[in-house]
Amino acid sequence: MSNPLPDFPSVEFAPMDGGLTKIIASTPLGRVSILDQGAQILEWTPRDSPSVLYLSPDSPPRPGKSPRGGIPICWPWFGAAMPPLPQTAPAHGFARNQLWRLREISYPASRTLSLRFELPAAAQPDYWPTPVRLSLSIQIRESLEVELLTHNEADLSITITEALHTYFRVGDVRKTTVEGLQGTRFIDKLQDGTPAQQDGSVTIDREIDRIYLNTPHTLRINDPLLGRRILIEKSGSHSTVVWNPWIEKGLALGDLGTEGYLQMLCVESGNMDPAGIEIAPGDTHRLWVRYSHEPLLRGN
Ligand code: BG6
Repeated sequence: MSNPLPDFPSVEFAPMDGGLTKIIASTPLGRVSILDQGAQILEWTPRDSPSVLYLSPDSPPRPGKSPRGGIPICWPWFGAAMPPLPQTAPAHGFARNQLWRLREISYPASRTLSLRFELPAAAQPDYWPTPVRLSLSIQIRESLEVELLTHNEADLSITITEALHTYFRVGDVRKTTVEGLQGTRFIDKLQDGTPAQQDGSVTIDREIDRIYLNTPHTLRINDPLLGRRILIEKSGSHSTVVWNPWIEKGLALGDLGTEGYLQMLCVESGNMDPAGIEIAPGDTHRLWVRYSHEPLLRGN
């Protein structure tokens, strides 16, 4: 590992181009880097494993543009902006392109570090006039826990779609499988939203862009090349997106390089269409995910 982990939790602030700041939170158990723009986690390197998240070297942080990798937050909508939102509204919502504030750093237990970010009310554009408080808490232990809270401060109900758009680093996506979606219905975004059902584990040998429905349970990414299994436990999430752009779309993105598509796989936890979340006035919706890893032994 390039940077050894400290004996005690520590937080550093690194200035980046364009006035952005990277917050580097380290504990004896792992290191997490977070960009203040979008409160986007860029890196999670646990003590005994290479980086779990993929971050494209061809996508340096720039103001107003979410880097390709880590955990961008899609909120308060997932995918393209639909009417009545204006056509100019960004894909996957505005939260990932706005500056967030770091509100709290705490040490809930020995060797555990917790950070809480908030999206300032002023960051909400005019076309999204509903007052909503959005906060992201990140907890670093052996695992990485992420909690996104949406608190409706308006006096009418709102409906949101959302995702933790997590890019996992894999040895070779062609040899990677996703378990836990067997028998699950999904919407195939590459087949005009045609519904289908997953047969066995998910394997990737071409472009994939699917919304799996009703997936509250734990998922596993098996990566034989890195000898690692990643576990995704979650709560408050009805849907899961599995996405890899493959060769042509990967090149067209312009920020994934030529081979990037082989080293990444997005498995996104959230509530995507048609499973939007309605939040009553004064209520809070909690989306929580725990990422952890274990060795992938032959036969397990
Ligand atoms: C995925 C979507 O979640 O994000 C894909 O399912 C989309 O359709 C991808 O292409 C990347 O989106 P963006 O806006 O970050 O390029």
